[in-house]
Amino acid sequence: MLDVTLCGVQFQNPLVLASGILGLTGAGMYRVIESGAGAVTMKSVSEQERPGHPNPTMVGNQTYFLNAVGLSNPGIEEAKKEIEHFKQLSHAPLIGSIFAGTRDGFVRLAEHIDEMPIDLLEVNLSCPNVGQEFAEPFAYSKEAVKQITKDIKEKTKKPISIKLSPNVWNIAELAKAAEAAGADAITAVNTVSGMAIDVRARRPILHNTHGGVSGPALFPIALKCVYDMYEAVKIPIIGTGGVTTGEDALAMIMAGATLVGVGSAVYYRGEDCFQKITNEIKDTMNSEGIKNLDEIRGIAHETMNNKQITIR
Ligand SMILES: Cc1cc2nc3c(=O)[nH]c(=O)nc-3n(C[C@H](O)[C@H](O)[C@H](O)COP(=O)(O)O)c2cc1C
Repeated sequence: MLDVTLCGVQFQNPLVLASGILGLTGAGMYRVIESGAGAVTMKSVSEQERPGHPNPTMVGNQTYFLNAVGLSNPGIEEAKKEIEHFKQLSHAPLIGSIFAGTRDGFVRLAEHIDEMPIDLLEVNLSCPNVGQEFAEPFAYSKEAVKQITKDIKEKTKKPISIKLSPNVWNIAELAKAAEAAGADAITAVNTVSGMAIDVRARRPILHNTHGGVSGPALFPIALKCVYDMYEAVKIPIIGTGGVTTGEDALAMIMAGATLVGVGSAVYYRGEDCFQKITNEIKDTMNSEGIKNLDEIRGIAHETMNNKQITIR
């Protein structure tokens, strides 16, 4: 009922752990699969270890999380051990994620990770929290997206998904650039830029001043991004951003997503949120008479295109 195929990889259900949340160790990612996820994405890795930004790096409330973790990770060599450990524990699909500050860095990482047992490679071009170090994210420029996608495709046999940002005027144009350069899928969205101020302390809460907004507040933004991209590209979309309930996940699929990324919901509903969301998807499918996800993928577009206005 819930199984999905994306880039030739089979998923038992469409829910994928988004990058950066519980994705640092093989054991942690295995726990997420045991809690009902269809696949996991590992934390973005760079060539060398990165400490990330100083604390505080995260603040949240019932509607949003704001983080400026700053891509802290142990580097590709350590990540390799965790990937291998995960693959010993589970046959579920594993999505690798890479991050670099330069085109060459991305290419070297892609070459390196190509030897590892990942099923799909996500290319994180869109972190909004490391601008002071790396300047504008590549995901803000069609030309940069095109170049890096093309370069990486030449170096890896793995299917690649380009991770895009909602901090742009027209994300569909960026998705088209990635598709034209050979991307196999799009992951969208990364966090949207934001900040929080402590009124009593009279200063920004995050040490980095600003960060990326995730969680429920991001959902309508992400949903529109997926809807717009689905009209523009033929490659599959991993719809990510604020998905917290089964209805959110179904809406993402109706907007056009093939898989649905789930990140911050882990903070709101616990590690077993994957099982909870899956149960909610099944309940809604049963009550709505939906037999499988192919039946409803992108259906929100059809209903709008066939819209009939009745004048009473
Ligand atoms: C603490 C934290 C760390 C993150 N780290 C990464 C990362 O390393 N690479 C990446 O591509 N996205 C990263 N993200 C973004 C998520 O993968 C996801 O795109 C975003 O949070 C929106 O989904 P959500 O609302 O379900 O969390 C991170 C998000 C959070 C909250």
